[in-house]
Amino acid sequence: MRFDIITIFPSIFESYLKESLIKKAREKGIFEVYIHDLRKWAEDVHQTVDDKPFGGGNGMVMKPDPIYKAVKEIKRKGSSKKKVILFTPRGKKFTQRKATNLSGYRQIIMICGRYEGVDERVAKYIADEEMSIGNYVLMGGEVPAMVVLESVSRLFPGVVGRKDFLGKRKVKDGFLEYPRYTRPEHLKIEEKDRKVPAVLLSGNHKKIEEWRKKRGKIIK
Ligand code: ADE
Repeated sequence: MRFDIITIFPSIFESYLKESLIKKAREKGIFEVYIHDLRKWAEDVHQTVDDKPFGGGNGMVMKPDPIYKAVKEIKRKGSSKKKVILFTPRGKKFTQRKATNLSGYRQIIMICGRYEGVDERVAKYIADEEMSIGNYVLMGGEVPAMVVLESVSRLFPGVVGRKDFLGKRKVKDGFLEYPRYTRPEHLKIEEKDRKVPAVLLSGNHKKIEEWRKKRGKIIK
């Protein structure tokens, strides 16, 4: 599996990719991540990737031609099952179920929009799908790309801890997220003793599992 991220701010990803589990997983060869500077596909000496909107209005619009060329070239590097995603607040909502679905692809190309928007022809003819990570407007697609990268990559065996680590919490189409506690058993917060629920100290695994199901929430 490979992730290709097209952005005008490649350095945003540097430290993120150098840290933690993502770094380890890349070193183990579980997946590959390539960050592409869109300006590489700009045609003029100034490496212009945006222009004024037709019809007037505020702000700049990302040009479709460098994006088209970038996607075309990057697609050739991947194998068969590929998906081209354009991040926009208008897109289909990203969910856990969607992450599971994306984990079945061999190449995910993510286009990070910036400025006031992206020429509509990218959504219509270049991307397979427009995606939003939530009902709010960000300044660009870079954070959404990290969100998708992280949530999809943690589904691969060997990325998150032991093999059965995800298995225990996995339910149909999603994950059971339940409250967790660790030591100390007793903790004074504002003069009150805030202790760990007794069931977790009981050693009764059946009861613990029931409690987790009851208190947890299934994320789909
Ligand atoms: N670009 C700006 N806001 C966004 C959002 N909420 N999701 C995806 N891409 C975006």
